[in-house]
Amino acid sequence: MTTAAAPIAVAGVASGTAAAVRHLAIIMDGNGRWAKSRRLPRLAGHKAGVEAVRRVVEAAPGLGIEVLTLYAFSSENWKRPAEEVADLMGLLRHYVQSEIDTLAKNGVRLEFIGNWRALKPDLVAMLDEARRRTAGNVRLRLVMALNYGGQDELARAARQLAEAAVAGTLDPADIDAGLLGARLDTADMPAPDMVLRTSGEMRLSNFLLWQSAYAEFVVTETLWPDFDAAALASALDEFATRERRFGGR
Ligand code: IPE
Ligand code: IPE
Ligand code: MG
Repeated sequence: MTTAAAPIAVAGVASGTAAAVRHLAIIMDGNGRWAKSRRLPRLAGHKAGVEAVRRVVEAAPGLGIEVLTLYAFSSENWKRPAEEVADLMGLLRHYVQSEIDTLAKNGVRLEFIGNWRALKPDLVAMLDEARRRTAGNVRLRLVMALNYGGQDELARAARQLAEAAVAGTLDPADIDAGLLGARLDTADMPAPDMVLRTSGEMRLSNFLLWQSAYAEFVVTETLWPDFDAAALASALDEFATRERRFGGR
């Protein structure tokens, strides 16, 4: 027993080696560069990105992941050309329609964060149906961030608090991080342990600004369409070397 490698830090109240990744949040980036390097249209990159989503969703439960949040469309992605936006919405629709039976069978609970209810009504109805259908599943929570922006999410939560204060049901003096966090789209989820971004960019791009306060940030050079179970396993290995402190010592 004494020869076992010592943990990086002795587990204490607030610190210790990084334990398991319960909640993994991924900024799936690099579809366009993947397509460009092959002289293909961007749509081909996004299609290949959907295949990577399938691989990662399949691999995640076996790696101990309980919640997998995928940044699929940001509140700023509307700035892209209309054709690309339409392609992305079409792929989302196709992914959910073609995958829902498999997800349901595999115990995956499909959920959405972001202002997804502002998407086209027929798409919203389809997503809502998929959400309801898988609501009782417990093997993996697959959370798709759709029309999601961390600033927008915080603004919506602040608006709710302000409305409650004006209505007299909330004393502004009672507002704290817990109350605000409870109004976010992620209210019933654990905070992400790790935020992973593919394709080398070192930025959050408005993803989970509040929730990632103490997330470990991992960036891989792999472009999202090339991401697979092996790449996921090595990202988790990187996480395992991190010492998390949460402000403690
Ligand atoms: C990520 O790939 C997909 C979405 C943002 C929806 P990109 O389309 O951003 O690919 P790059 O960054 O241009 O390579
Ligand atoms: C972030 O990627 C959004 C998603 C992955 C959905 P972007 O490619 O849109 O981010 P920026 O524009 O490079 O920051
Ligand atoms: Mg990008």
